Amino acid sequence: MARIIDTAPGCDMPALRRTPSALEVRGLSYSDEVKAETDHLYEEVKDFITPMEWPGIAPLVHGINKLKEERNAVILAHNYMTPDIFNLVGDFRGDSLQLAREAANVDAEVIVQAGVHFMAETSKILAPEKTVLIPDMEAGCSLAESITGADIRLIKQKYPGIPVVTYVNTTADVKAETDVCCTSSNAVQVVEHVAAEWGVDKVILIPDKYLARNVAAVTDVEIITWDGRCEVHEQFTADDIHGLREAHPGVLILAHPECPPDVLEAADFAGSTSALSNYVSERSPNKVVLLTECSMSDNVASANPEVEFVKPCNLCPHMKRITLENIFDALKDMKHEVLIDEDVRLEAKKAIDAMLALPNPKTARPFETGLAPKDIETLSPAA
Ligand code: 13P
Ligand code: SF4
Repeated sequence: MARIIDTAPGCDMPALRRTPSALEVRGLSYSDEVKAETDHLYEEVKDFITPMEWPGIAPLVHGINKLKEERNAVILAHNYMTPDIFNLVGDFRGDSLQLAREAANVDAEVIVQAGVHFMAETSKILAPEKTVLIPDMEAGCSLAESITGADIRLIKQKYPGIPVVTYVNTTADVKAETDVCCTSSNAVQVVEHVAAEWGVDKVILIPDKYLARNVAAVTDVEIITWDGRCEVHEQFTADDIHGLREAHPGVLILAHPECPPDVLEAADFAGSTSALSNYVSERSPNKVVLLTECSMSDNVASANPEVEFVKPCNLCPHMKRITLENIFDALKDMKHEVLIDEDVRLEAKKAIDAMLALPNPKTARPFETGLAPKDIETLSPAA
């Protein structure tokens, strides 16, 4: 049984609340057949879905799993998906780097991206022969929206000869203008690699200014960044950490590197969504807080029932646009297809391939906590 102390109970539950009409309009019902074929699945989500809610969810899960077979489709589910999607219909689950690797290798005709738009674009860039669907085209990202390809062209004019490393949370247009991509799993590794390869001591790392400052804290490479922020992680503060430590003595605090640098300074460990998840599984702490998107605690908690989770709730409104209903609709009607202009795709692919060619980030330098934040040059659209 997952042990969760929810500091904002129910805040991530709207996606799980269903009305009977959500099934009726899709021609679904909790029939004897559906019940027989889904009963065994309930065990995996029993901590998050009540027995009363299950008859509203099981037909969607059953319908999606049938459609996946009919369409030869797979669902790539990011760690921030709600537990129903993550556990019951996701075929591959992970952080953005792991999902990108799966997209490149997966043997299926259709990919449904249970994540945000830049992730679906990454899949399409790497698997152009596959049909890539996103259940809601509006599932964006504040980082991806913070910068354009034209911004990058101006930056390159201003800093000729300095490599541009782009966080994967960007549009295909932006990736097409850059030299190498990175994710939160490998940002330090990519920056150090590209600086050595180009023989420079300075790298442009955009668009997340907090991620860039967190990289700058652990490397001697000089970093120039962009004034972009994740609207979810920027809300965490060092004061939150002090409050959590006071309220829960001995609690272990893990933070995503999109959090501001003073949060990493005060935390116990920092890393990508999968690095945080692995850390919990490997260390099995008594009590833990994940300073990242809300649903991730639920997903890590269900895999680690012996660990107690304190759950501060910051929702990503974009990730939460993806629901069982719109995944079902996406597979049924083969919508919404993600398409990318071929010239842009080929350029963007070079930057992603350069990242994927690096050795496994597990052996690379991780983020560190306890380090004093460094100030770095931060560009903005007006610059
Ligand atoms: P990860 O690469 O750690 O999965 O992060 C993606 C993301 O959007 C975090 O907010
Ligand atoms: Fe973008 Fe932040 Fe949402 Fe991740 S959590 S998709 S970085 S807005």
